[in-house]
Amino acid sequence: MSHATLKVIRDEHAALAAMLRSVLLLLAQYRRRAETPDFALLRAMLFYIDEFPERQHHPKESTLLFPKLRLRSEEPLGVLDKLDREHEQGEWQIRYVERALLAFEIVGDSRRTTFEEAFQRYVDFYLAHMRTEELEVLPLAEKLLTQADWDELDPEFLLNRDPLTGHAPKEEYNALFSRIVCLAPAPIGLG
Ligand SMILES: [Fe+2]
Ligand SMILES: [Fe+2]
Repeated sequence: MSHATLKVIRDEHAALAAMLRSVLLLLAQYRRRAETPDFALLRAMLFYIDEFPERQHHPKESTLLFPKLRLRSEEPLGVLDKLDREHEQGEWQIRYVERALLAFEIVGDSRRTTFEEAFQRYVDFYLAHMRTEELEVLPLAEKLLTQADWDELDPEFLLNRDPLTGHAPKEEYNALFSRIVCLAPAPIGLG
């Protein structure tokens, strides 16, 4: 049986993966053409990652889903401890990436490689994190959680949905998303 919580998590993973790939494509294109990046676009894309995946998606997993799994499991779930630690690490890693972007913008081309490498590490880290959740945690949730658990989780996961999963953004995000959609390359945008 499929549950709204699982669909929201999978859709948001797909949106984050698409955003990460779009930034990588842009960086490769800027490097190939020896171009100065559109820094406002890169800042908007990193802001999205901080605003949605970092501040909404990961906290919901750590505060709502993982505690229920721990309650239902008879054995300790070390994988959840590892994922919780990664959620905390993600918060300062995105700060580090944003700082590296600022240095690239202010100092110039000598900081391009440092930023590209910092962003690539962030991408590798999150793709591996999401893979672990999809291959280990979501199947475990399907096995262990009760209907009463899902009845509590589903409405929470259906709140504050990521606009990149096909839901209209709140008005305050209109400028952010139109900038990203108009200027970023596929799979996220039309640029
Ligand atoms: Fe996560
Ligand atoms: Fe996740």
